[in-house]
Amino acid sequence: MYCCKFQIWLRKPEVVKKNVFLYCHIYHMDNITDWQVLCTSKNVRCKSKLAGVNRLRNSRLIGAKELPPPYPNGWYGILESSKLKAGESTHMSCLGEHLIIYRSQGNKIYILDAYCPHLGANLGIGGRVVGDNIECPFHQWSFRGSDGVCTNIPYSTCVPPATKIKKWTSTEVNGFVFVWYSVEGSEIPWAIPKSVEVESNKLIYHGRNEFYVHCHIQEIPENGADLAHFRAIHNDNIVAECRNRKKNLLHWLGYHQWQASWSPLEDRHIAETRLNHIFKLFGKIQCFSMDVIGKQIGPAYVHLVLHSPTFGNFQIFQTITPVEPLLQKVVHRFYASRFMAPIMKFLIFGETVMFERDLNIWNHKMYRNNPMLLMEESSLKKFRKWYAQFYTVNSKSFQLETNTNW
Ligand code: FES
Ligand SMILES: [Fe+2]
Repeated sequence: MYCCKFQIWLRKPEVVKKNVFLYCHIYHMDNITDWQVLCTSKNVRCKSKLAGVNRLRNSRLIGAKELPPPYPNGWYGILESSKLKAGESTHMSCLGEHLIIYRSQGNKIYILDAYCPHLGANLGIGGRVVGDNIECPFHQWSFRGSDGVCTNIPYSTCVPPATKIKKWTSTEVNGFVFVWYSVEGSEIPWAIPKSVEVESNKLIYHGRNEFYVHCHIQEIPENGADLAHFRAIHNDNIVAECRNRKKNLLHWLGYHQWQASWSPLEDRHIAETRLNHIFKLFGKIQCFSMDVIGKQIGPAYVHLVLHSPTFGNFQIFQTITPVEPLLQKVVHRFYASRFMAPIMKFLIFGETVMFERDLNIWNHKMYRNNPMLLMEESSLKKFRKWYAQFYTVNSKSFQLETNTNW
């Protein structure tokens, strides 16, 4: 079976799920109908789905010795709040861990290690939420969400002392459930700031997209400091073919122009990308100007505030979850005023096309520890120095993590 080309109909998200292994990345956009997105992979021919996945995995190992640790310390938005109703639980594998996330009847989120200390059942598969506790599906031992302590064993009068399961610190902000992951003790040096506009419902949810990217996590935020790439891959208009721009007539509709800067902020864990966008209609008329401030907050979360005189104001939240050392799940959620509903469909489509251009590079590049950087690329050097704060002496190396988990 060959998988050089396939189609995703956004109308049918289930089709997207079925095709996930064909191309190793997916995207779909809620609330968008009638868009047909063609994903072509002209250079990838695989004899089977598994061979395709393995080919990409193995190619990712080129230069693996140079890779930074796969799981930097920080907050990770591992689940969208809307995916878990009161009384529901789910299992997640990420950051080299197996977790159960559940929402109590009182609407509180708890995250615990997934495997029961008794006989090892997965609490996230069939576990029952009872008040603030989660009950194991196998023998019904009960664990308290606030500290992971076992509070009840239905067929015994006493619970063996110190029977507990690891509890993970979590918070729920801007439509995501975040977990704190750090190899350095329990101190949490910074928090995820709330968006005032989203909290007050001034801006409401309009849609999302989701991607799986084969690369090291650091490659994705590095994009915001890579000022030269905007011109190279984001200038073509969103309906023009990215690689064969001269062959596509729609290219003559116009092109995007970007001015970008990147700098770390006083709050050590935050860095800021500022972008100015204009569209040159027919290559001449300037329109659709837009100012973007993207705050990279920690290793895996971005809050984008966009202001456009043409479209209005909107915000995007980006989370990255390392599913495996070299497999990242990326989610974008879009918020704007309710009056912007029709235009948001177009803007989400545009952002998806732009992100996919980066994704095509990330999926096939190798990580260079000592890249040949020009004077004009000093922001990349600064970015790597800034991002290094999220690795600490105890961070598990890429080699160690892949040896134990793959
Ligand atoms: S395995 Fe969980 S209670 Fe026995
Ligand atoms: Fe980019």
